[in-house]
Amino acid sequence: MPNPTILILPGDGIGPEVMAEVRKVIDWFGTRGHAFDVTEDLVGGCAYDAHGTPLTDETMAKAQEVDAVLLGAVGGPQYDNLDFSVKPERGLLRLRKEMDLFANLRPAQCFDALADFSSLKKDVVAGLDIMIVRELTSGVYFGEPRGIIKEGNERVGINTQRYTESEIARVARSAFELARKRNNKLCSMEKANVMESGVLWRDVVNEVHAAEYSDVELSHMYADAGAMQLTRWPKQFDVIVTDNLFGDLLSDLAAMLTGSLGMLPSASLGAPMANGRPKALYEPVHGSAPDIAGTGKANPIACILSFAMALRYSFDMGDEATRLEQAVEAVLADGLRTADLMGPEGGTPISTADMGDAIIAKLAATA
Ligand code: IPM
Ligand code: MG
Repeated sequence: MPNPTILILPGDGIGPEVMAEVRKVIDWFGTRGHAFDVTEDLVGGCAYDAHGTPLTDETMAKAQEVDAVLLGAVGGPQYDNLDFSVKPERGLLRLRKEMDLFANLRPAQCFDALADFSSLKKDVVAGLDIMIVRELTSGVYFGEPRGIIKEGNERVGINTQRYTESEIARVARSAFELARKRNNKLCSMEKANVMESGVLWRDVVNEVHAAEYSDVELSHMYADAGAMQLTRWPKQFDVIVTDNLFGDLLSDLAAMLTGSLGMLPSASLGAPMANGRPKALYEPVHGSAPDIAGTGKANPIACILSFAMALRYSFDMGDEATRLEQAVEAVLADGLRTADLMGPEGGTPISTADMGDAIIAKLAATA
């Protein structure tokens, strides 16, 4: 059996720093009989600087061939005034679209050691473990027509929310499948009270439920009420499925329930490839944080936990994924914190690299 292949795209800002820690974790698994063939390439602003585009066709082709892509983060203030078509974010959106990664899994899990850290009361978040499934390849992010046009003597900005039945059905199936492996509860969120695309969304989710997943407990919520319920009592949810834009908003909200955006991983999955593995891209939910790039303050945990998701969803290494997650938990329980996890009581943060080393030390201790 050839080694599984991984394409690493560290990207911009803190992306390269946090990815360096993931490299250490990958290498550690390599010394324990789980070798991966890893290549690295550019995406985002650094790709624009080198090639005039945030993602070259060659890199896109590589991403289509590997078993999994690991991405750090893209973007930075120096790229703010670039034309939309070459902004760093377009590199990421192109990967999602052309790999057809329609199901974006964003778990929000509150580690015990960090329960005091949330802006919500401890009993509201302690033990929280929910999964947001965000549709990632359609909706208002990609709908046509789009653009800024001239109408009379003023400009009009246009984006289109568009969903086909099959796009809704396939992401709904992914969410139902996940619910079955968890607590068997799915809540679907849209705005069926004001949007036709929301009416269709609700209909199709109901149809898929009735035909294939009637054993799963299904509920529906308007996305605004969903945001309210997520802050009021998030533990009422197990799996949430929602569209691209609402999923973008709700997953940031859910992330903050857990205390820090620096903790949250994500997996973006598509259809199975010839080898049975799904097309897949793994990335932390946080952005490129240009303000702290290069200072050693970044938290590598979200990126490391994204690799744990790769172990579970791409490489059928669920036990190793759990082991890596437990190593992270153990390090936090020891009180080790990067700067983003410093509470009001203060303390001495450890660096990005020290956090990576501490996690590997825990891994090794469980060997
Ligand atoms: C995310 C990010 C992206 C998005 C940006 C960087 C394009 O906010 O992954 O949530 O809007 O999808
Ligand atoms: Mg976002």
